[in-house]
Amino acid sequence: MDITENLEFKLVEFNSPAQKETIVLRDEILRKPLGLVFTSAQLAKEKDDFHLAGYYEGRIAACAVLQPCEDQKIKMRQVAVYESFQRRGIGQALIKESEKIAIENGYNLMYCSARKTAVPFYKKLGYITVGDEFEEVSIPHFYMEKKLS
Ligand SMILES: CC(C)(COP(=O)(O)OP(=O)(O)OC[C@H]1O[C@@H](n2cnc3c(N)ncnc32)[C@H](O)[C@@H]1OP(=O)(O)O)[C@@H](O)C(=O)NCCC(=O)NCCS
Repeated sequence: MDITENLEFKLVEFNSPAQKETIVLRDEILRKPLGLVFTSAQLAKEKDDFHLAGYYEGRIAACAVLQPCEDQKIKMRQVAVYESFQRRGIGQALIKESEKIAIENGYNLMYCSARKTAVPFYKKLGYITVGDEFEEVSIPHFYMEKKLS
């Protein structure tokens, strides 16, 4: 079965119950495994970002945060898919939806700090690494980017 046929993406409002659900997902998938927690100051900085949520049969399965930057660049952050939904095409659909939103809002370059473990995932979607490996949240990362058109 192609699970992505039953996926629905929505931009959710900052501080809404739907956005808070994305924080639970981010915490579970991105923070807890590293022994980290979000501070309210960190989350408050995301007020002007796009918060994207992906739902499978009405249940949240994936999310991403898009942070507008200078020169029509936009940073994709906090990309996460619940473990039970991983490797079924949802991440790929999430990135494509993020790119669509970025283009619709006038951005022409998407970039991210990709965890080394996720680099092959982004490469399949046309992202290239720029520069050397670096450390963030105590794990290796690469800067990756893609021109949008
Ligand atoms: C990385 C992540 C977002 C990918 O989402 P996903 O739904 O599992 O990925 P998809 O099923 O859409 O995979 C798309 C393609 O990338 C490949 N891929 C996905 N994760 C991969 C990985 N870790 N290593 C190698 N290839 C990977 C898939 O095999 C698939 O290739 P195919 O189309 O040839 O079969 C998800 O696994 C996740 O949330 N991981 C934990 C958090 C994380 O690392 N987030 C990214 C931080 S930068």
